[in-house]
Amino acid sequence: MKDDVNSPDKWEADYERRTDGWDLGGPTPIFKRLMLRASQQLILGRMIVLGAGRGHDAREFARNGFQVTAVDFASQAIQEMHRLASPEAPVEILQHDIFNLPETLNNSFDYVLEYTCFCAIDPKRRAEYADLVTRLLKPNGIYIDLAFPLDGRKGGPPFAVSAAEVLKLFQKRGFKLLSREVPTDSIPPRRGAEELFIFQKTD
Ligand SMILES: C[S@@+](CC[C@H](N)C(=O)[O-])C[C@H]1O[C@@H](n2cnc3c(N)ncnc32)[C@H](O)[C@@H]1O
Repeated sequence: MKDDVNSPDKWEADYERRTDGWDLGGPTPIFKRLMLRASQQLILGRMIVLGAGRGHDAREFARNGFQVTAVDFASQAIQEMHRLASPEAPVEILQHDIFNLPETLNNSFDYVLEYTCFCAIDPKRRAEYADLVTRLLKPNGIYIDLAFPLDGRKGGPPFAVSAAEVLKLFQKRGFKLLSREVPTDSIPPRRGAEELFIFQKTD
């Protein structure tokens, strides 16, 4: 199952072989910037990070006062999150397939954070992913989606994402678009291929 994106085996093999080129070695500058202006924009709350990898983004939000749960199904990602854990950035680490997260987590989070998980899953499961985000969020909860790669590439992972698809998936589920921007502070190889969407769940 080493080439099946639905299986942790594929991702564990990537971590083992160090074919994990998605890992930035730290949080994206875009989330760091978001934190700088967060005091005016984002009220602190409970956040879940899906497909968190080594947890760089999860720890960035935790360091800034968010109560963060980071989920990944690859053992290496979980081990790395434990290794990199820091008391200044406390994160609850959960090894789980995101698609089977327990229903007890429904309506539990003020925020869902997405970065390079949506493009990693089987594109046929994108509606299922949007349903997952919807059920995890509390009413009025916020979906922070740094969408990548918006470059129409063939094949994957990462599988291409389009702004139109993201908008359709979430607006269909009653989400209100609060803001969207093409960041100028993406890391150079991703510049122009990312867009930051902030949605609010409405009922
Ligand atoms: C491309 S990596 C991105 C990791 C991290 N977001 C980052 O930016 O460094 C995708 C991650 O999602 C995880 N993943 C993929 N499908 C998953 C699933 N169904 N449940 C849980 N984790 C999943 C993989 O194990 C991998 O760590």
